[in-house]
Amino acid sequence: MGFKAFCFALFCILYASYLYKPIPGNIKETWKVMALDASAKTCMLVASFLENIGIMRFEDFISKIIMMDYTQSTSDEYITVTDTTFNDVPVRLYLPKKKSETPKRAVIYIHGGAFCLGSFKQASYDFLNRWTANRLDAVVVALDYRLAPQYHFPVQFEDGLAAVKHFLQDNILKKYGVDPNRICISGDSSGGTLTAAITQEMQNYPEMKSKIKMQALVYPGLQIIDSHLPSHLENKHSIILTRDIAIKFVSLYLTKDEELPRAIERNQHMPLESRHLFKFTNWSTLLPEKLKKNRIYTASVLGGYNSSLPGLMDIRAQPLLANDSLLRTLPSTYIITCQYDIFRDDGFMYATRLRNLGVQVTHHNLEDGFHGALSYMTFPFYLQLGFRIRDMYINWLDQNL
Ligand SMILES: *[C@@H]1O[C@H](CO)[C@@H](O)[C@H](O)[C@H]1NC(C)=O
Ligand SMILES: *[C@@H]1O[C@H](CO)[C@@H](O)[C@H](O)[C@H]1NC(C)=O
Ligand SMILES: *[C@@H]1O[C@H](CO)[C@@H](O)[C@H](O)[C@H]1NC(C)=O
Repeated sequence: MGFKAFCFALFCILYASYLYKPIPGNIKETWKVMALDASAKTCMLVASFLENIGIMRFEDFISKIIMMDYTQSTSDEYITVTDTTFNDVPVRLYLPKKKSETPKRAVIYIHGGAFCLGSFKQASYDFLNRWTANRLDAVVVALDYRLAPQYHFPVQFEDGLAAVKHFLQDNILKKYGVDPNRICISGDSSGGTLTAAITQEMQNYPEMKSKIKMQALVYPGLQIIDSHLPSHLENKHSIILTRDIAIKFVSLYLTKDEELPRAIERNQHMPLESRHLFKFTNWSTLLPEKLKKNRIYTASVLGGYNSSLPGLMDIRAQPLLANDSLLRTLPSTYIITCQYDIFRDDGFMYATRLRNLGVQVTHHNLEDGFHGALSYMTFPFYLQLGFRIRDMYINWLDQNL
């Protein structure tokens, strides 16, 4: 009893100390956001504590919390929902019950969770995908992938690719009544990274690439090579996702080596032979003036991290590093970024590069947005910001797919 009371008291003290952390003035639902942020930060701190004293790994603790939010596949009046596998990859299918004369549109959805956490089973994703199927009268395929740190890059990418390739086969599309010319692939956060990488990879499959009519990327991470972008420096301690936590997870995606996050933190993690890639993150040309403020772009220090990790230079982990010839072939792209998000500038730079190469791009930056808001759409943790992002995404799909 004494110990439990102690833990509870500790939790309250931590919670209260985070609760009074000021947030930017233009953010709406101030108190709710502060309370959710304090909860997230307290969980992270407890997770770090448990990891440091050797009780359980950081990501295992967070994962346990997220799993409490998992849903079963439940059909309703309008949508038949089933869990199955595509090429051994778990998927949840949302099939509208309404019969139609013509084939339906389809959306493939890849969930976020920093490559280490989460599932399409989370209530907010189940809600989003059901909503998409309903609103668009579309077939929705939500896919899972094996997670870090048990599995490292490129397993997550390969799982996603395997499921997408399975779905895009003519006989499968026919089976589900899908129009092969009206398919979108979407994802948020690390799911956005995987979406962008898989869309690029699909350009190597001539018989399938034309079936992906468009891609939608919601606050995606698109590069790791530069951890000193303006959005990184401005949002070090941002709401829900801090720079430290993002670096921790992205490192776990690539390796178990605990030196990597420290090198990324210092922005000295890239090998000497990666110099040619930095033109793709040179934000002095790729970011709009208003985001640069008075900062001056400086080249990163190379060679400060000794192990050579293929993922650090691989476009399948970092779609922003793909060359112009590849980017030019990409389909119509929708990008949502948030002002108070370390990944904001990744999205801006991808939008700039794609636009410069003649790809059709719609990019919305939410001036009062922050990372992860789309995961706050179910009771009791819902935010208007989450619904706003959902509605922007659905409207864009409805008008373009
Ligand atoms: C970044 O781009 C600017 C403008 O093109 C250029 O002057 C500068 O040399 C580049 N910086 C690096 C480190 O490549
Ligand atoms: C990298 O390796 C070299 C030689 O093994 C060593 O001298 C150097 O200190 C190492 N650098 C880092 C950052 O670990
Ligand atoms: C561009 O990248 C693709 C994929 O990595 C590669 O196959 C191709 O050779 C590259 N093209 C040029 C012109 O560098």
